[in-house]
Amino acid sequence: MPAFPELFHPFPINGVTLPNRIVVPAMVTRLSGEDGVINADIMDRYVRFAKGGAGLIVVEAMAVHTAKSGPLLRICGDEFKPGLTELAKRVHGAGPSKVVPQIIHFLKIARSGWRQLVGDLTTEDIAGIVAAYGAAARRARECGFDGVELHMAHAYTLSSFLSAKNNRKDGYGGSLANRMRLMGEVIGEVRRQVGRDFMMGVRFDGEECIKGGYSVPDARAIALRMAQLTVDYISVSAGGKFEDAIHKPGAPLYPYTGYSGDRCMPGADYPDGLNVYIAAGIREWVRQHGFTTPVAAAGKISDPAFAEALLRDGKADLIAMARPLLADPDWPKKVAAGRQDAVIKCVYGNICKSLDENFRKVVCTLWPQGRLQAPESEDREPPRWPEGAAVTAQHKGGRVYLKWPAATDNEAVQGYMIFRGAENEPERHIGSNRAHGYTDADVAPGTTYTYRVRPYDLGGNRGAFSAPATVEVPA
Ligand SMILES: Cc1cc2nc3c(=O)[nH]c(=O)nc-3n(C[C@H](O)[C@H](O)[C@H](O)COP(=O)(O)O)c2cc1C
Ligand code: SF4
Repeated sequence: MPAFPELFHPFPINGVTLPNRIVVPAMVTRLSGEDGVINADIMDRYVRFAKGGAGLIVVEAMAVHTAKSGPLLRICGDEFKPGLTELAKRVHGAGPSKVVPQIIHFLKIARSGWRQLVGDLTTEDIAGIVAAYGAAARRARECGFDGVELHMAHAYTLSSFLSAKNNRKDGYGGSLANRMRLMGEVIGEVRRQVGRDFMMGVRFDGEECIKGGYSVPDARAIALRMAQLTVDYISVSAGGKFEDAIHKPGAPLYPYTGYSGDRCMPGADYPDGLNVYIAAGIREWVRQHGFTTPVAAAGKISDPAFAEALLRDGKADLIAMARPLLADPDWPKKVAAGRQDAVIKCVYGNICKSLDENFRKVVCTLWPQGRLQAPESEDREPPRWPEGAAVTAQHKGGRVYLKWPAATDNEAVQGYMIFRGAENEPERHIGSNRAHGYTDADVAPGTTYTYRVRPYDLGGNRGAFSAPATVEVPA
């Protein structure tokens, strides 16, 4: 029996069988130009995920309409179909993964901090959104994707209609039923355009994570309505709203800068699986009402045993891992082969998020410098320390500075994992770095810490732990 039988069990959804229950959720890459056309770098990004063996790959949000934005993919016209068709074909050719595009409509924003609100839209505008979603979904089917995912999460149009802050005075706002009206119209039109036999997923916020926003009780009702409307899977996200975004003068609002942004892409200080209760609450409700619609959970889930337990305990049906799979697209392949020790672990420092915020190409800080894609290596030989190598640790001004010599490898050393233990603190992995040093700013006065460092190579093979270096932080 494989080590993680639930995780690696094939999973059927409306005629499509995912080879396992691991999902790459949508992650904007900023690799496209403003033209929104699929280019070679984008193709390589998704082929790389497919080589790693994830069950479902959701291609980053692409616009169903022509409104201006920074670099963002488009599916708003037939001229985008050749690139998208090639993308679906290349992903299918690279491995068993299934692939769907995430399709998005967003409202206008300006550098002044102004943003268009749902209340500004006329009923003609709303009808245009419904039609644009339908046409984009039809294109997804025509391009050979395995399905389509409707983006109804975060700060974008459909999510803003679902929001408890939607105070339109007509039939599209105010009450929960009215807030769900546009969602229902979009889902209905997409179904009409793609047919019953095409996988249609929806991603939405199970909790807005803003003052006055909705949480699990409304999310349960919304998800149940989705299930009734024949949605094939529900991918649960959280937060990422404009309401609490911090405006940088001269820059457009980025909806992941406030607390709700933290809840969407939680950094290292947040606990693992912090949003699981939301997906679990939704799934329970949908099941209680007789629907088997699969629910995907996301947010700092990267440990295989944890992911397996979530599936086994019925907290989710699918596990979405964004940053862990960006850091190491081979996570599924390695874990399935019993090589979880070779997974290059995301450290949740959110450099990728900050690249997205600044419209720069999204890469992982752990990849070798200058690369646009995760490295590939089948090598099994771990790196080695030079003879007599030692880690040094020095305390200065409330920080501990670590240094070590370069390790060597038959291919190349990719980075170093830093482990820390203390009197009453079991040793744990506190970060990783490409360079030969690390600054630990998170130390408590009056504590003695012990650090060990472990090099790893392009394939994730880990070398020996260094000898421990001990440092006392004065009281
Ligand atoms: C750089 C970046 C871009 C993202 N772009 C999208 C997106 O286009 N659509 C979406 O629904 N979520 C997007 N997300 C959110 C992720 O899909 C995911 O929900 C979130 O990162 C939490 O999962 P994780 O802890 O496994 O990374 C993005 C996240 C990151 C880091
Ligand atoms: S840049 Fe940081 S947070 Fe993003 S994937 Fe890499 S390690 Fe994870």
